[in-house]
Amino acid sequence: MLNVFWNSGPYIVTMIFIVGMFWRYKFDRYGWTSRSSQIYESRLLRIGSPLFHIGLLMALGGHVMGLMIPASFTESLGISEHLYHLVAVALGTIAGVMVVFGMTILIYRRRTVLRVFQVTTKMDKLMYLVLGSLVLLGVYNTIGINLLDLPGKYPDGYNYRETVSVWFRSIATFNPKAELMKDAPLTFQLHALVAMALIAIIPITRLVHIFSAPVGYLSRPYLVYRKRTTKKARRGWEPTQVG
Ligand code: HEM
Repeated sequence: MLNVFWNSGPYIVTMIFIVGMFWRYKFDRYGWTSRSSQIYESRLLRIGSPLFHIGLLMALGGHVMGLMIPASFTESLGISEHLYHLVAVALGTIAGVMVVFGMTILIYRRRTVLRVFQVTTKMDKLMYLVLGSLVLLGVYNTIGINLLDLPGKYPDGYNYRETVSVWFRSIATFNPKAELMKDAPLTFQLHALVAMALIAIIPITRLVHIFSAPVGYLSRPYLVYRKRTTKKARRGWEPTQVG
């Protein structure tokens, strides 16, 4: 049963994602936005948002390296497994801490600033639940297992490049190898499972903005929304009083 899941789950999720994105684009083109809440509160957002987004981009950059590039390739460049592991844990820890801090600020803001809470939808809550679990599992894998060895089973860290990464590439090359995933620690399996859940719900959440964020999205100034005023524009001068 588990084998069937690790072999076919990623393809089912990819289909759900593709069909969902077409559906969203067709029926909700004007709702294709991050639905920024900056107009309601900007002090906490200014700290939480860049911390979360920059940390996440760093983490995802690490995923490209760790999941897509085979260990044999980095070794052929003279980068030993030990050195790779040190760099991955160091950068992964920094990225993970940034994401957790940023996300905590964003969730705190959403819950405590009344106006932001009022515009929070059910889908936002679902998204935070799935994204939050995904991030916590990822951070546990990096810091809890690979840095601190909390389970006491992996003194040199768990070498996911021999299992999870090979499974990931086997999916991409349409030659799925489920057995590799079954041997990984449970939290690594759960992290991949929740990642698939996140990918499946992207089309029905505000996360669609990831796919329309232009380059420079992170560095551009925030959008400022202004109320359309019904008052007549002031002339800026008063008529001369006669008599
Ligand atoms: C099937 C897809 C995925 C797989 C197989 C996967 C695998 C992994 C692995 C092996 C680690 C540990 C890295 C290390 O210790 O060096 C990790 C960490 C992490 N993952 Fe994922 N991941 C996936 C998707 C995602 C997604 C979609 C996100 C976020 C949107 C994410 C967020 C994180 C974070 C924040 C960490 C901790 C920081 C870091 O080490 O970079 N992962 N993931």
